[in-house]
Amino acid sequence: MNKIFLNKIKCIDCLKGLGKIDSNSIDLIITSPPYNLGNDHHTGFKKHKPYEDNMKESDYQDFQLQVLNECFRVLKNNGSIFYNHKNRIKNGSQISPYEWLFKTNFLIKQELVWINRSQNFHKIRFYPWTERIYWLVKDRKTVLENNINHHDVFDWKEWRPVGIKGSHTRAFPEKMVEDILSCFPKSKIVLDPFVGSGTTMLVAKRMKKKFIGFENNKKYCNLARKRLYE
Ligand SMILES: C[S@@+](CC[C@H](N)C(=O)[O-])C[C@H]1O[C@@H](n2cnc3c(N)ncnc32)[C@H](O)[C@@H]1O
Repeated sequence: MNKIFLNKIKCIDCLKGLGKIDSNSIDLIITSPPYNLGNDHHTGFKKHKPYEDNMKESDYQDFQLQVLNECFRVLKNNGSIFYNHKNRIKNGSQISPYEWLFKTNFLIKQELVWINRSQNFHKIRFYPWTERIYWLVKDRKTVLENNINHHDVFDWKEWRPVGIKGSHTRAFPEKMVEDILSCFPKSKIVLDPFVGSGTTMLVAKRMKKKFIGFENNKKYCNLARKRLYE
């Protein structure tokens, strides 16, 4: 029942929302889940279903797998997802998102490196400065139009990391969403299951796309709606 979600941000758990989306109906998903970094700086959903970015790692990976499987179902056969994540350190060793990406049915079309210069300056290792954006597809024939003439590394000056001061610390740069959308000029419906401050929705709206978003934290949901409608 996509109609009831079109051009809306719903304050609900993304799995609940995704479960109501028609199969093969979405052109593009651009999203960034919480990273399970062991704190609650950008989640902290306490009253309903608590989510504090501090799940048992195996539960977290199962959750990501469930979300990605639902994304696979709702995407059109020629649809794409851009899934932002990063290598993380857990129990002293590095975990790659490939640990769960390989368990999905998605084909990994390309891995983009985003040099966003994290502020983690712990001197026990080289400072981790990059995140990844995985371009995942259902059909290996799916292509994009490289209308921005870009390579697979995006510098922090091009995609400047932003926090919406005092509101959301993990917002996407608008330019990132603009660049991705401009390579899919025929896409009509854009989905973000982890809306946060609403950047994907905001840029999709500006670029005259239809959008659907889910966010389970009321504070961020309101923030995103405010950015879109005020
Ligand atoms: C990394 S942030 C997304 C930031 C976003 N790209 C932006 O530009 O602001 C991830 C968001 O997912 C939300 N979230 C976490 N678990 C969720 C769930 N089960 N369903 C929906 N949203 C969830 C968090 O509250 C957080 O705002």
